[in-house]
Amino acid sequence: MKNIDEMREYLKKYDAEYLLNFYDELNDSEKEGLINQIKQIDFKYMKELYNTKAMFNMEENKITSIPAIDKNKLNDDTYEKSGIEEIKAGRLAVCSMAGGQGTRLGFNGPKGTYMLELDKPTSIFETIVIKLKEAYEKYGVLTYWYVMTSEQNDKETQKFFENNNFFGYDKEHIVFFKQGELPLLDTNGKVVLKDKADVFMAADGNGGIFRALGNRGIIAHMKEHGIKYLAIGNVDNILIHMVDPIAVGLMKENNMELLSKSFMKPTPEGKWGVFCKVNGKPRVIEYIETPRELLEARNEEGELIYGDAHFGCNYFDVELLEKIVTEKLPMHAALKKNKGLNSDGEIEEMETYKFEAFIFDGFSMAEDIIVFRVNRNDEFAPIKNKEGEETPESAIKLYKEFYKKED
Ligand code: UD1
Repeated sequence: MKNIDEMREYLKKYDAEYLLNFYDELNDSEKEGLINQIKQIDFKYMKELYNTKAMFNMEENKITSIPAIDKNKLNDDTYEKSGIEEIKAGRLAVCSMAGGQGTRLGFNGPKGTYMLELDKPTSIFETIVIKLKEAYEKYGVLTYWYVMTSEQNDKETQKFFENNNFFGYDKEHIVFFKQGELPLLDTNGKVVLKDKADVFMAADGNGGIFRALGNRGIIAHMKEHGIKYLAIGNVDNILIHMVDPIAVGLMKENNMELLSKSFMKPTPEGKWGVFCKVNGKPRVIEYIETPRELLEARNEEGELIYGDAHFGCNYFDVELLEKIVTEKLPMHAALKKNKGLNSDGEIEEMETYKFEAFIFDGFSMAEDIIVFRVNRNDEFAPIKNKEGEETPESAIKLYKEFYKKED
């Protein structure tokens, strides 16, 4: 793009010249910044996303249930022993998805930096390190920890780790990588400006992890270090148990490339995705997209057929990750209010589409999945909302109860 006229011509093709409406008011570095941001936009792809934004359609698909393996019903330690061997050989690494915004929590910083009143003030990130240190005590290996950040929170996150001396963990075993982002669209499908000098970008959802693992050299890093299994977890669950030998042993002994933990929902309600197979392929249908009849379906014993809740603790064979990386995942559209620039150059609240990939959409690339049902209160203490359910208070309560039981 040699000059601004050429850029205007280019944008005309996509009906997007308006992005330069306030260009003349900008200083030189803002001008350059805006042009660079515009160059990153794949307008064809954004149009495609806008045109195909659809909810999951149950009628067009054959849905079947997946019988889970219940941790409480395993009657010997074969899997555990097998998993311990893998862990001791350094073949398991863990990864925290920490690129999200924590809007519902009403917290401005990276969610992992949120402080909790445990025995002493402890950040969410530190709770993960506590688990990694426990694993070190048990198995004598330092597990690699990959931390996915986003453009919005990468610097702040890394600074937080440095300021806290990496929570006493070996910093050579902590690897940061950034997920990608996409522009927001308005209700007419037009790219939204955040202000006169900036396109409104947002993280591309936790399914953006696959592309990022590939693009940012993480898969190569894992292969170089002999890692075969990657446990990927939500950052906002302070009881997440990723260095779990039973999960790894189940994969190894059953020769499976994918395992996902679940807990049994007590009722059809709950803001959790549920496991199923769609046209024979493993999937999670997210809570906002799950049809009522599926949520309420029960078997002859009266149990929920689709009662296994996904809670964001997923194990992938590195070879499966390599396959998913090259796939174009479906994008889910969410209509959200945001403050953007209107055509008069003023900032105002508007409805915007945010496009997000979901991690479990990668599951359909696997031949099969193990749904590993664990005890909810041992492994799931989510921090999602400021008030109501899944709050810092409820998570702290679960955390303390768990560690009291362990003592
Ligand atoms: C998520 C699951 C849902 C599950 C619930 C359990 C997805 C899409 N949904 O819902 O099935 O029942 O957890 O608590 O996984 N994140 C990023 N980058 C992003 C967006 C999110 O790293 O662009 C991270 C968040 O920091 C968090 C995790 O992904 O660690 C899940 O976050 P969120 O998108 O808020 O999903 P939930 O609605 O909580």
